[in-house]
Amino acid sequence: MGLLSFKIFIMEKLSIEISNGAVGFSLPELDLPEIKIEEKIPTHLLRKSELNLPQISENEAFRHFLRLSQLNYNIDKGIYPLGSCTMKYNPKINEELARHYRFINVHPHTPSEFSQGCLAIIYELSELLKEISGMDAVSLQAVAGAQGELAGVLIISKYHKSKKEKRDIILVPDSAHGTNPATATLAGLNAIEIKTIETNGILRAESVKKEIEKYGERIAGLMITNPNTLGIFEEEIYEISQILHQIDAQIYMDGANMNALVGNIKPSKFGIDVMHFNLHKTFSTPHGGGGPGSGAIAVKKHLEKFLPNPRIKKIGEKYELVYEDEEYSIGRLHSFYGNFGMFIRALVYIRMLSSEGLKMISYLAVLNANYLRKRLEEIGYKVSYEMPTMHEFVLTLKDIKEKYNVKALDIAKRILDYGYHAPTIYFPLIVEEAFMIEPTESESKISLDNYIEVYRKILNEIKENPGIVLSAPVNTHVSRLDEVKAAKELIVKWQDI
Ligand SMILES: Cc1ncc(COP(=O)(O)O)c(C=O)c1O
Repeated sequence: MGLLSFKIFIMEKLSIEISNGAVGFSLPELDLPEIKIEEKIPTHLLRKSELNLPQISENEAFRHFLRLSQLNYNIDKGIYPLGSCTMKYNPKINEELARHYRFINVHPHTPSEFSQGCLAIIYELSELLKEISGMDAVSLQAVAGAQGELAGVLIISKYHKSKKEKRDIILVPDSAHGTNPATATLAGLNAIEIKTIETNGILRAESVKKEIEKYGERIAGLMITNPNTLGIFEEEIYEISQILHQIDAQIYMDGANMNALVGNIKPSKFGIDVMHFNLHKTFSTPHGGGGPGSGAIAVKKHLEKFLPNPRIKKIGEKYELVYEDEEYSIGRLHSFYGNFGMFIRALVYIRMLSSEGLKMISYLAVLNANYLRKRLEEIGYKVSYEMPTMHEFVLTLKDIKEKYNVKALDIAKRILDYGYHAPTIYFPLIVEEAFMIEPTESESKISLDNYIEVYRKILNEIKENPGIVLSAPVNTHVSRLDEVKAAKELIVKWQDI
């Protein structure tokens, strides 16, 4: 018997559209005197008309949301090679423990003597991140990578201010993540871009020296993503940090790409002063579209007093959240101590793998990326920079566009037709028709081979019948959306049209 090879797509209606008057709950008989709401709430605050809420039974509601969840592509469905977003498999034990009733029922205002277990988790994870990075102190408060960056740059600013120095410039290579210059600007500094196109995508010490000649001690620091957004290791980072330290400029490392390094090298060895991790990229906590993540930061000793407050301390055998160095601290970034559920997941992951396992993560992430790159190059795709690949790589589809008039966007849409998630496209901006691919260590060779096969088929389609690719996707629940209109005319509330 052959496989069913057709699909029927039925768009899921909104819950209000399937509303049928059913009731999904039953309340017990009232056993207290009834209170008239009109007597308790001022008339002008009372609702004028009945709310039109969906009325459906419990099983209809459950099925509706389950069907909705299945419309979405996710890492549990298949490979999700979204470069720069590191969609690795999230082990289910992380989720189970993060949802344990002993954790989810702890109120954030619980006094420390009754929340020693939770504080121990925060402390232990901070200690492990210190060990992994080789840095001297850690704060877990930032709830996203970009917020970690902001914390780091504010720390650098405050460091210079504490020395009564006016420094207003942050150097940022164009191969850094887009959030880096944005963060520097948000922190009130001027981001000066250093071009890397003529230096094979990496920042050279020579280029930094030229900036020092131009700006001297106006330079507060450097923000460098390592490996950078081209998936290339910044091989001169140590030399660069030495040069900048001569004028006391501070080195910020965006360590969101630690999946390429974890367990094998400690960033403290690069001469950096402050860095952030994306727990959601390296330690398998869910990425969650901008949050709730965790952008833990780590600093060298001389910057410790500028860390956000409160800080976790072990005093004797007890754990405490303490406020320290208030005149130096950049203050509070987030309520309580950040996204606690993420700490549990990251800690479970690190403890489960131990140091040998962490080492294997980066070996395999780099191996998988190199295997994929090599095979795609053999098929006929072109890599943007001929440098060794770390955990991800960026193809340029410029030649395909010029020859066949098929863009990176069209190919990404066609990948959806084959049932896979597309890679990141048009990023980094320094690559024309960019296709940024990050397989992660979670994928097996079979999974990578299946993915490569899709690229091979699409290239053949482009050569033989590009129309197929230009009209993709046809096998998805919705076809090509007007993304510009969607972004510019955002309607986020239901309207009966
Ligand atoms: C290299 C790099 N830096 C910074 C960020 C920003 O992290 P977030 O999205 O958590 O703010 C990302 C995002 O994935 C990233 O890939």
